[in-house]
Amino acid sequence: MSDVYLNGDFIAADQAKVSVFDRGFLLGDGVYEVIPVYAGRCFRLDGHLKRLQNSLDAVRMANPLSEQQWQLMIEQLITRNGNGDQSVYLQVTRGVAPRDHVFPENVSPTAFAMSNPLQEVPEKYKIKGIAAITVPDIRWQNCHIKAITLLPNSLLKQQAYDAGAQEALLIRDGYLTEGSASNAYAVIDNVIYTAPKDEKVLPGITRDLVIDLARKGKLKLVEQALTEEQLRSADEIWVSSSTKEVLPVTLLDNKAVGTGAPGAVWQQIDALYQAYKLEGDS
Ligand SMILES: Cc1ncc(COP(=O)(O)O)c(C=O)c1O
Repeated sequence: MSDVYLNGDFIAADQAKVSVFDRGFLLGDGVYEVIPVYAGRCFRLDGHLKRLQNSLDAVRMANPLSEQQWQLMIEQLITRNGNGDQSVYLQVTRGVAPRDHVFPENVSPTAFAMSNPLQEVPEKYKIKGIAAITVPDIRWQNCHIKAITLLPNSLLKQQAYDAGAQEALLIRDGYLTEGSASNAYAVIDNVIYTAPKDEKVLPGITRDLVIDLARKGKLKLVEQALTEEQLRSADEIWVSSSTKEVLPVTLLDNKAVGTGAPGAVWQQIDALYQAYKLEGDS
């Protein structure tokens, strides 16, 4: 049984209870983060805590902990749960109040954190690549906020699973935005394209790292959205997220992407990513 953190205390996971009047439960009024941990050390923690602050600011919610307090709490949680490779989940909701759309006054936010063993990415995904489908991006207009209201993302991911694929690539107004739980990239003539940071995509922490690594590795990357047609004729397609790293998509809507095998540019990015991980970043 692992320990979780809830409003200032560490407790056994099965003892942690939240009120049915919590606005996270009733209204989905909350934000979250997912941080990978390798050998007991958080990966890109600063970026995650900054994004958490940005999400909280965007929904006008107070941050219950300072950056230092988050760091300390997360370190303690990782240690309590045996170090090693984990994935830490943080969630902040607006708190407990009588159900009303209008924000309550003088309510403390609910702060919750848990950590679980990090699920290893199946080796076959890196050797053969994954399958994706394209679907309309049915989400809201504020996809830059990491909100706990994930019903659209969940429906889209389920649609991919039902089709035998691992990810859904989202098309809005004719352009690729991102994946249901990942940022998306395409390589055309050795240039890497990914949608710019705006309200249509989540500013992925892994995306930031991919951009840094591409620049350091002298790979050409532009932050520009691709049309659905460009996506369909791309030489390579990738997706990235904190727990999946960077994965090649080799089948799109049941058609081979490029040669149908993970591409040469992905191999380079993955090598740079793995080297960076080994060096340790914080
Ligand atoms: C919709 C969406 N986009 C992008 C990402 C990737 O973000 P990160 O690299 O910070 O994990 C995620 C991660 O869960 C996501 O849910």
